[in-house]
Amino acid sequence: MAGLRSVNRSATEAARRLRRVEPASAAPPAAAAPAARLVDGGRALFVGRPDALSQLRRAVAEVQGGRPRVALLEGPAGIGKTALVRHLLGDADVGCVLWASGEEDETGLSFGVLDQLTAEAARVVGPDPVFPGGPVAAGRVPSPDPLVAGEALVDLLGELQRSGPVVLVVDDAHWADRPSLQALTFALRRLRADRVFAVLMVRDLVDAQLPDGLRRLLMDERTVRILLEGLDDTELRALSSAHATGPLSWRACVRLRAHTGGNPLHARALLEQVPAEAFDNLEAPLPVPRSFAMLVVARLAAAPVQGRELATAASVLGAHPTLSQAAAVGGLDEPLRALEQAIEAGLLVEQPAARGLRFPHPLVHAAIYEQAGPARRAELHTRAAALVEEEALRLHHLARAATGPDGALATELAWLGREEATAGAWAAAAGHLSTAARLAPARTEYEQLMLEAADCQLLTGDLPDLFGKEAEVRGFRPTAWRDYLLARFAFQRGDADEAETLLRNAWKRCAPDSGTDVDPLLGARVAGWLAALYSTKLRGAESAEWAGRALELSSGHAAFDLIGQMRMSGLAASGQLDAVLESVADLPDPAVASVAELDVLAGRGQIYALVDNLADARRDLGGVLAASRGRSLLFRVLVTTTLAQAEYRAGLWDDAAIHCDLALSLMADSDDGALVPYCHQIGVLVPAARGQWEQAEKHVGTTQVFAESGFPHLIASAAIAMAHLARARGRSAEIVAVLEPPVRSGLLDLDAEPGISGWQDILVDALVEVGDLHRAEQVLIRFETAARRRGRRSAMAAAARNRGNLEALRDNPGAADAAFRAGLAEAEQIELPFERALLRHSYGSFLRGAGRPADSVRQLQAAHDTFTLLDARPYLDRCESELVACGWTPREGRRRERDASRLTTLELAVAKLVAAGLTNRQVARELVLSEKTVEHHLRAVFGKLHVTARTQLASRLLAAGGVSQPDHADAGLVQPD
Ligand SMILES: Nc1ncnc2c1ncn2[C@@H]1O[C@H](COP(=O)(O)OP(=O)(O)OP(=O)(O)O)[C@@H](O)[C@H]1O
Ligand SMILES: [Mg+2]
Repeated sequence: MAGLRSVNRSATEAARRLRRVEPASAAPPAAAAPAARLVDGGRALFVGRPDALSQLRRAVAEVQGGRPRVALLEGPAGIGKTALVRHLLGDADVGCVLWASGEEDETGLSFGVLDQLTAEAARVVGPDPVFPGGPVAAGRVPSPDPLVAGEALVDLLGELQRSGPVVLVVDDAHWADRPSLQALTFALRRLRADRVFAVLMVRDLVDAQLPDGLRRLLMDERTVRILLEGLDDTELRALSSAHATGPLSWRACVRLRAHTGGNPLHARALLEQVPAEAFDNLEAPLPVPRSFAMLVVARLAAAPVQGRELATAASVLGAHPTLSQAAAVGGLDEPLRALEQAIEAGLLVEQPAARGLRFPHPLVHAAIYEQAGPARRAELHTRAAALVEEEALRLHHLARAATGPDGALATELAWLGREEATAGAWAAAAGHLSTAARLAPARTEYEQLMLEAADCQLLTGDLPDLFGKEAEVRGFRPTAWRDYLLARFAFQRGDADEAETLLRNAWKRCAPDSGTDVDPLLGARVAGWLAALYSTKLRGAESAEWAGRALELSSGHAAFDLIGQMRMSGLAASGQLDAVLESVADLPDPAVASVAELDVLAGRGQIYALVDNLADARRDLGGVLAASRGRSLLFRVLVTTTLAQAEYRAGLWDDAAIHCDLALSLMADSDDGALVPYCHQIGVLVPAARGQWEQAEKHVGTTQVFAESGFPHLIASAAIAMAHLARARGRSAEIVAVLEPPVRSGLLDLDAEPGISGWQDILVDALVEVGDLHRAEQVLIRFETAARRRGRRSAMAAAARNRGNLEALRDNPGAADAAFRAGLAEAEQIELPFERALLRHSYGSFLRGAGRPADSVRQLQAAHDTFTLLDARPYLDRCESELVACGWTPREGRRRERDASRLTTLELAVAKLVAAGLTNRQVARELVLSEKTVEHHLRAVFGKLHVTARTQLASRLLAAGGVSQPDHADAGLVQPD
C-alpha cells in the first residue's frame, strides 16, 4: 500500500514539472504550440463569448447583492460550456466554488454528485458540521430521502455564505444522478435572499433526463439561459493566433468554421494537428473529417506505446482512475514514463488534488475506449475486476468483460441488486438487476430480472419509456410478477379497474397459503398496492384489510413506508374506530418513538381528529411532525396536511395556512404527485373562508386538473374543494351543481363516515337556499342518521343547523328553535369555533325572522366575535348585514388595524416561531428555508409590525390579531428542535 501511495505522489510531482496547460492538446512535434501562448497569465486560453460572459457577470453581481440566481448553459459536446464557466469564475469575486460533474458511468450512483459538492465544501468549512462523517451518502444504505439531503444542503449553503457568495456548479448535469438533482432543486427553491449562484450545464435540455422539479426551475423566467453555439470567424481567428499556426487568414477561418461548425473542441484539435498551410490550400482536403473521435484516434496512434497503453487501460476504469490502477490494468512497469507520454500526447490530464487521472474531455475518453476494440476491452475489464476491492465495481467490470450469457455472474448481480432494493437504493438496484437480466442464460430468468428492475425503476419515479416497457412486459410468460408489474403500469396510466384485476390475479398466484408461485415479498407489494388502490376508491375497509396483509408480509422492507398509516385510515374510514383507538392507546411520545410507531401515531392523530378530539389530534400530529425530520417526503406531507385540517377545524387558521403552505412547498419538489390534490383540498379551506379568492381559486383549479384523471377520490376531492369555495361566496346553486352529481352517482357516500371532510351540511344548506326542500330532507335524513350512528358531535351539530334552517323555511318555528338549541348543546362540548359561529349565525337570522330581536343580536354578536377572530371575512360581512338589519352599527377599528399589519403566511410563520424564542437558524430548520430567507422575512415583519426587537414580537402579534388563539404553542411548527 505504502508503495502505491508513493508512486502516486511522485507521479503528481512529475506531472507538475511538466507544467501542462489545460486543456491538454495533442501537439505533434512539427506543430508544437509554445505552451506560453496557450495561457494567459496562468489561465487557460479563452476567446470571445462576450454576450454570454456579460449575462453571467450580471447574474454574479446580483448574487453578490443578495439575490440567488440560477444559470443554465446548453450546447453540444465540446462547444465550450465548461471552458466558459471556468473562465468566468477565474476572475469573479466569489467566496467559494463547489464544482461537481455528472459522469456517464455513475448516473446510477445515488448522491454521487451531491457528494462531490459536499466534499468540496468540507475543504472550505473544515470538517463538515452539516454532513457529519463526511459527504452525504453516495451508495449509503439505506439511502436517505433526496429532500432530506436537500434540507442538509440548505444548511450547508447557509454556513458557506458566511464567508462570501457561493457558486454551485453542476457540469454535465444530464449525467448527474437523480437523487442529487432532486436534493439540489429542493435546496435552490428554498433560497430567497441568499448569495448563491447555481450554474448547471447540459448538452441538450430536451433530451436530458432531469427531474420535473428541476426542469421547472430551469424553465423559470428568472433562470439565465444561455445556448452556446459555435465560435464565429473572428473568435476562431483569435483562437488560431494562440496556436502554432499563427493567426489564420480569413479565408482559412471560414473554412475552419465550415469544417467544425465553430466547435472549439474540434477547432483546437485541428489547429493543433494540421499545419497552417493546409487551411489555405483549398485543393488539399483537411485531413480529418468532422468527427472528433478520429482526431483522438490519430493522437493515440501518434503517441509512444506506453502512453497509449496507459490511456487505454485508464479508459476502462471510468472517469477518475488512479495511476497505479491504470498501470496495473495495462501491465505497465514504468507508470511515470507512460504518464508523461500520455499527458504529452493530450490523452490524459493529471488531477493532483484527487490523486488521480482524468481525460481532457469526456469525448477523448469515449473515443479511446471505443478504439480499443471488444477483445482488448474485455481483457482489460477482466484484469480490472481482479484488482478492485469493491464488490459492485468488481461485478461491473466482469459484466463488461462478459461476451455472452453468464449464469454465475447474473446470479451474483441479481443478489446484489436485491440487497440494494431491500434497502431502498432503487436506482442502483435497477442498474444491477437489468445488467443481471442481460447476462441471464435462460429466458425465464431474463424476464424475472427485467420485471424486478422495472419495479425498482418505477420506485425511483424515473422510467422514461413507460409504454415501450409495458409492451415488452406484455410479451412475457404469465407470472405473478408480470401481472403485478402490468398492474403498476395500468395504475400509472390511470386505469384503476385494470390495475385491480391484474393485482388480484397476481395475488392469486403469489398468496402465502394458496398461490402457485408463493413469494411473500411480492405478496406484500401486491397487497400494499391493493390497499392504495382501494383507498383511492374510497373503500376504507378493504384498504385497511390489504394494508394489514402487506404489513404482515413486508417485514420491514423499504418499499412499505406509509402502509401502517394507510391501514389506520382505512379502518377509520370504515368506522371501526373504537377497536383501533383501543389498540393504540399506549404509544410512546413521538420524540422517542420508533419509525413504525411514528406511522401508527400519525394514524392515531388522524383518528382523534375524526372523533372531534382535536386537542389530542394536534398533539399527536404536531409531535410526529417535529420528530419526522429525515422521514420520507410523502409521510411528512401527509402528516402536515392532516395537522392543517385539524387546525382549521380547531379555529387555528393561521397555523393551518402555514402548514398547508409548507406541505405544498415540499410537494412541489417531488415528482410524485400522489398527495398534491389532498394538499390543495385542505389548502382551499382557509383562503376560501377568509375571502382570499385568488388563492382559493388556485387550489380549486389544481384539484380540478387532477380530477380529470378520472380517479374517484380525485373527483370527490375536487368537488369538495369547489363546494367550500362556493359556500364562502354564498353561491348555493353552484354548490348543488358540483355536489349533486357525485352524491347521486354514489361517489360521495351519504351513509359513510360523516366526520372526514364535511361536505354534507354544505349541500343541505345549499338545497334549502335554492328551495329544493324535498331533496334537502332526503339528504339531511341520511346525514343525520350517519352522524348519530357514528356519534360524531361535529356532524350532529352541523346537521342540527341544517335541520333548523330547513324547518324555519317550512314555517315550523318550534322545530327549528329546538334543532338550533340541540345543535348548540352539541357544539358547546367540542372545540369547533367556526362550526359554532355558523350555527349561531343561522340561529340569529332565524330569531330575527321570528320577531325576537334581542335574542337574535345575542347570537349574531357571538358569531360576529368568532368570525372577527378568525378573520372569516365573507361570513363576517353576511353576519354584519344581519346585525345592521337589527339596528346595530359595526365597529371598524379592529379590522383596519389588522389590514395594515397583515403578514403573508410565511412572514407570520417566521414571526410566530421567533416570538416563541427560536433562533433564526432554528426557524430556518422548522420551516425548511435558508437562514438568509428567514432574516429577509423577519425584516419585513419588523417593518409591518413596527417592532425593533425580537422580544417585542409576541405581544405585538397578539395585539395585531396575527395569532388566532392563545393556545397555539403546542402545534408542530413551534416545537423547538
Ligand atoms: N471560448 C473558448 N476559447 C478557447 N478555447 C475554448 C473555448 N471554448 C472551449 N474551448 C476549448 O474547447 C474544448 C471543449 O470545451 P468544453 O470542455 O468547455 O466543452 P463543453 O461544452 O463543456 O463540452 P461537454 O458537453 O462535452 O462537456 C476545451 O478544450 C476548451 O478549452
Ligand atoms: Mg463540459
